[in-house]
Amino acid sequence: MAEIVIVQNADAAGELVADAILRLVARTPDAVLGLATGSTPLSSYQALAAKVAAQRVDLGSVRGFALDEYVGIPVEHPESYRSVINREVVQPLGMNPELVHVPNGALDGIQTAGDEYEAAILAAGGIDLQILGIGRTGHVGFNEPGSSLSSLTRTKTLTEQTRIDNARFFDSIDEVPVHCITQGLGTILRARHLVLLAFGEAKADAIAAAVEGPVTASQPGSVIQLHPHATVIVDEAAASKLANIDYYRHVWNTRFDWEEL
Ligand code: PGA
Repeated sequence: MAEIVIVQNADAAGELVADAILRLVARTPDAVLGLATGSTPLSSYQALAAKVAAQRVDLGSVRGFALDEYVGIPVEHPESYRSVINREVVQPLGMNPELVHVPNGALDGIQTAGDEYEAAILAAGGIDLQILGIGRTGHVGFNEPGSSLSSLTRTKTLTEQTRIDNARFFDSIDEVPVHCITQGLGTILRARHLVLLAFGEAKADAIAAAVEGPVTASQPGSVIQLHPHATVIVDEAAASKLANIDYYRHVWNTRFDWEEL
């Protein structure tokens, strides 16, 4: 079972994730992080940036791999995930941009971009800690419902729901790309530790399906049930449809001193 941690709000989750990353980097200064975009991981990046500044931690050797990228969007577009990762992760954390990879969404070469990304992850020794959000459709990364549970990095077609959800970052929905390139569910399963975050009532169904539903490609988030070390950090609203919520609280409240995320 994944470890389910119910917190008061996104800031409390951010503190937990930031501490887990700092412990990892203290052990492994060139650790490999899997980086999610979207609203959900922002409190984690902000908490980490604050701790890095306060504790004078150097993240300059930490390596990173983004989960996904739009296809056909210029990299310099402010909403390309390359731009978002630079703005929200690399710069505030003082990471070395050359060590932070984002799938190549350029149309030219798109047929081989997935394989190249997989090779780069393998060459880095794999991802140590993968941060994940979850979409209302149940997607993780941009693996929409129906994605193979063993898929690797490849292009996908976004659902209309995801395009509508992401239209807030663009001037209009017509500007939201139709295609993306995303780490696959199989890629995500290879990471050594998964940290899935979700906040708000709109994510409650997707979280219940991911944690307690059957493992099925129809709910890509349910792939976490196949992972030996998955942590799910949710606020009360996102946890509200979990049937076994009392047990998860009990497990967290009775954890051993030596247990860390
Ligand atoms: P959000 O997106 O963090 O912006 O809600 C999550 C996702 O689509 O994976």
